[in-house]
Amino acid sequence: MLISDLSASTMVTLGKPLPRTLTLRNGVEFPAVGLGTFRAQDDDARNAVMAALRLGLRHIDTASIYKNEGPIREALAASGVPRGEVFVTSKVSPYEQGAGRARKAVEGIMERIGVQYLDLVLVHWPGVSRVAPDSSLNAQMRWETWQELERLYSEGRVRAIGVSNYEERHLRELLGRAAVKPMVNQFEVHPRRQRLELRQLCKQEGIAVVAYASLGCADLLNHPTVTRVAAEVRRTPAQVLLRWALQGGCAVIPKSVRPERIAEWREDLLLGGDWRLSQEQVTALEGLEDGHKYCWDPSAVM
Ligand SMILES: NC(=O)c1ccc[n+]([C@@H]2O[C@H](COP(=O)([O-])OP(=O)(O)OC[C@H]3O[C@@H](n4cnc5c(N)ncnc54)[C@H](OP(=O)(O)O)[C@@H]3O)[C@@H](O)[C@H]2O)c1
Repeated sequence: MLISDLSASTMVTLGKPLPRTLTLRNGVEFPAVGLGTFRAQDDDARNAVMAALRLGLRHIDTASIYKNEGPIREALAASGVPRGEVFVTSKVSPYEQGAGRARKAVEGIMERIGVQYLDLVLVHWPGVSRVAPDSSLNAQMRWETWQELERLYSEGRVRAIGVSNYEERHLRELLGRAAVKPMVNQFEVHPRRQRLELRQLCKQEGIAVVAYASLGCADLLNHPTVTRVAAEVRRTPAQVLLRWALQGGCAVIPKSVRPERIAEWREDLLLGGDWRLSQEQVTALEGLEDGHKYCWDPSAVM
């Protein structure tokens, strides 16, 4: 239903509320909106996680290279939210790949966050630190890493396993040999970089997509098309960008260390769930596609 009773220039399309959780291929439910924590350190990280939990977000995305597990541990403990109600994702870094190292890395992450298990562990990057991108060692070591994650999964130390920044060829290679198929691929998705083919492959293979840099690392918040659509729907640019990703079937993990910004997403995504961008608005946003990357580029990693 299109309601045009707000003003001539306001177009809000109502629809079925977007799902609050996505179901992974093994039946594990995970919150479609989480808090990103890249570059959130010390008090900022602690306060952001505390604010997110207080506001009802139940998904925290971190990684061993973010070096913020201490503050996250403190925030989880201080929040009083039971462990079973918070979905914690972390990632094995390019420095931790390979036989005998990935398991140690995951155990270290659990110890530093102060948890007995992780909800989701990802291979952060298809490549290995200090290995040339075109070296066959990358494929060998990410496979060894995956096998260690499979074992941790079968032991119940992690509830789900997946990958991050895997391009089509990395995914196909893994799908061809894995005993436990990846449940998630986390990669950069926003209107300037939509990755339709990769998202289609994930969908076909039952792999949930977690979009990162949904706000274009803040750069897209000022894009004229985004601000125009935001004015039309009387939402903020961040709310529009997150809605666009969720409507496209992705989970999102926007990052902010400012509680008022976290509150802004939560208000719209957790409380105001019943509106949608219209097809015209989606098309306008999709017109921004130019392949631009705000973050690192895995395409050269063999
Ligand atoms: N797997 C990977 O390789 C990978 C790579 C990149 C990111 N990630 C994950 O994805 C998360 C999100 O990506 P991201 O942090 O790169 O980018 P993002 O979420 O697109 O943007 C974050 C930036 O936007 C700013 N921001 C947020 N809300 C805002 C608002 N309402 N107005 C103005 N500025 C706002 C934040 O600043 P303030 O904090 O000052 O508010 C921060 O600088 C990361 O934190 C991380 O957890 C994963």
